[in-house]
Amino acid sequence: MKIGIIGSGNMGRSLGILWSEQGHQVFFGSRDAAKSQAVAELAGNGTQGGTNEQAAAFADVILWTARGIVPSELLSAPEVLDGKIIIDCNNQDIPEGFAYPAIAESLAEKLAKDVPNASVVKAFNTMAQEVFELAPQPIKEYQVSVFVAGDDEQAKKTVMQLAEEIGFVPVDSGVLRHARLIEGLGDFIRLIIIGQQQGPYATISVNVLPRAEGQRLGGRQASSLK
Ligand SMILES: NC(=O)c1ccc[n+]([C@@H]2O[C@H](COP(=O)([O-])OP(=O)(O)OC[C@H]3O[C@@H](n4cnc5c(N)ncnc54)[C@H](OP(=O)(O)O)[C@@H]3O)[C@@H](O)[C@H]2O)c1
Repeated sequence: MKIGIIGSGNMGRSLGILWSEQGHQVFFGSRDAAKSQAVAELAGNGTQGGTNEQAAAFADVILWTARGIVPSELLSAPEVLDGKIIIDCNNQDIPEGFAYPAIAESLAEKLAKDVPNASVVKAFNTMAQEVFELAPQPIKEYQVSVFVAGDDEQAKKTVMQLAEEIGFVPVDSGVLRHARLIEGLGDFIRLIIIGQQQGPYATISVNVLPRAEGQRLGGRQASSLK
């Protein structure tokens, strides 16, 4: 696949390197082409660096790491993203005391509104950069979930494949509106990492447990709640 990275910071650099190691063609973009070229040099594997415009034009799949900045604010011709898949890994800025306002619209939905002809997929926001440093080995042993939500089934499948290739367990999380919940998970894990001082290797995964044998506790009974 041709993958373009918008913003060559921690997430862009880490995921770009991992995907280039899997044989994908990766173009690192930045507001400062010298910065993304330095990242490409570090990455090797035939990666390139340049402007965000070049990265967007080059790729079929784009990783969007510029939090809260939508394509019409960053690209002179955002139509270059039409028909492409955009992976949104963003989380809100952490407010004082982790006192988040109620989420009415996710960052991913805001991004999707700005580029209605692209397929935005939410993913990779519930683990810290340090976790990516463990990928693709030994992360596989830990069965770490990547929650993937989007309205375009094919785009979602592509992003699930990209997650699996680098050692994660993709979890189909339904439509893009569910990004509100996934972003909430991102906020929560950062509370645990930073606020509760568990450190950056803490992450959130879904475990599907084996069924209980018998119903020692009486089993699930009809609820009287309305
Ligand atoms: N780091 C983590 O552990 C982690 C984990 C999960 C999710 N996330 C989320 O992923 C997103 C990126 O995080 P990060 O750690 O990669 O941050 P970062 O290292 O600060 O990189 C963010 C990138 O966004 C670009 N950017 C910043 N302000 C911009 C602006 N005004 N206009 C255009 N581009 C701008 C910058 O690109 P250039 O300077 O190259 O132009 C920068 O490299 C955030 O939303 C974060 O919450 C981070």
